[in-house]
Amino acid sequence: MRIGFVGLGNLGKAIVDRMISQNVDIWVYNRTIEKARNYNHYKEPNDLFKNSDVVFIIIRDSKAVEEFLFNTIDSKHLQNKIIIDMTTNSYDFVIYAHEKLKNLNAYYFEAPLLGSIPAAQTGSLVMLISGDFEIYKKIEEIIKTFTRKIYYFSEIGKPTKIKLLNNFALAGISQTLIETISIAQHMGIEKEVIIDILLNGAGRSYFLEIKKDKILNEDFSPQFSIELLYKDLNYFDELIKKFHLYSTVLEPFKNTLKKAINSNYSSMDISGIYLVLREKIFNDEKFINGLRLFETGNYFQAHEVLEELWREIPQDNKYKNFIKALIQICAGYYKYIEQKNPQGAKKIFKNARNYLLNYVNENVIMDVKEIIKNIDEVINMIENNEDISGFKILVL
Ligand SMILES: NC(=O)c1ccc[n+]([C@@H]2O[C@H](COP(=O)([O-])OP(=O)(O)OC[C@H]3O[C@@H](n4cnc5c(N)ncnc54)[C@H](OP(=O)(O)O)[C@@H]3O)[C@@H](O)[C@H]2O)c1
Repeated sequence: MRIGFVGLGNLGKAIVDRMISQNVDIWVYNRTIEKARNYNHYKEPNDLFKNSDVVFIIIRDSKAVEEFLFNTIDSKHLQNKIIIDMTTNSYDFVIYAHEKLKNLNAYYFEAPLLGSIPAAQTGSLVMLISGDFEIYKKIEEIIKTFTRKIYYFSEIGKPTKIKLLNNFALAGISQTLIETISIAQHMGIEKEVIIDILLNGAGRSYFLEIKKDKILNEDFSPQFSIELLYKDLNYFDELIKKFHLYSTVLEPFKNTLKKAINSNYSSMDISGIYLVLREKIFNDEKFINGLRLFETGNYFQAHEVLEELWREIPQDNKYKNFIKALIQICAGYYKYIEQKNPQGAKKIFKNARNYLLNYVNENVIMDVKEIIKNIDEVINMIENNEDISGFKILVL
């Protein structure tokens, strides 16, 4: 069978290299063509489909797969093709893709993977797969070149449900362990010591074993990126809602990843959440309390608590003026709502805006651009004598 491969991202490239090392004859396509240069490649994705019997796909997300398969590839080139989609997709998308591709006379397999680059390099990924069983048997040997275990499910959607469950667990395990390490450090326990002890105690896990060196050396080059895990948690969120289920811990996990994204760490490896969790100011009780008080409309108290934090921050700390901006936002609300002083409030909001302009490209866990946009909106509302109390200005 002629084999095509779409997607030379972090994991896709590692799989292609592994397949080539196992003597699989393979032709690739990648949207950014430069990444394909060292491989037998097609510049046009339709050419890849025309000249392949089996096409492996591993690209960013369901939106990308939908766009690629149904808008980029001519449907006549999909006919009779075996499509193995290893992207981590949303549940709704895979159900739709199975149906749609069946109608186009193609064989679609949802085939999410467990494991990352190191597992791909050693041929020890785990695949969960669903699709036509007879066709699956024909492609099993090719899949075995980069996997150590394949779970075939006759039920469509089941691999995706399990994959999303797995990544929910991954988010929890990684976050708990990394938070443990950073809290330990703030209490004076060395990183090496806490990691070693966790590995010999309750924290012993595949995650810590494979990410230990990344955390120790602060090498957050991506194997599996923060933004992709955030995407998967959003898919998981959609999935549990569909089944009327609820998670008590999903929101905090998502929040931490969102903070990392706001801090411009999106393309870092998931172990990079360490940078967010270890930052003392943003994990300080006063910071968290200040934001909570603000959210509940206690603007004066929020201002007081954040100011206390601000006083403790050394002059040369780069986040000092960011906290100042937040204090001023609290003060602006207080001035307008409680003290009924629109002119004073406007002035304070403008000050906050000026401070924030210096933080647009900094790693500050909040979406600074959005906050600036919101300040402009608030100033506008004040000028129109509108009520700003329900307006959410601080965004994660
Ligand atoms: N990395 C892991 O350890 C891991 C593990 C299990 C599952 N996964 C899943 O595997 C998928 C890929 O992960 P990755 O880490 O390899 O991602 P990545 O490094 O971010 O690469 C993303 C790939 O998708 C391509 N792409 C994005 N949008 C596209 C579009 N609209 N049309 C065509 N191609 C598009 C990119 O092309 P360009 O090069 O042109 O940007 C790139 O090849 C994701 O769904 C991820 O959740 C990853």
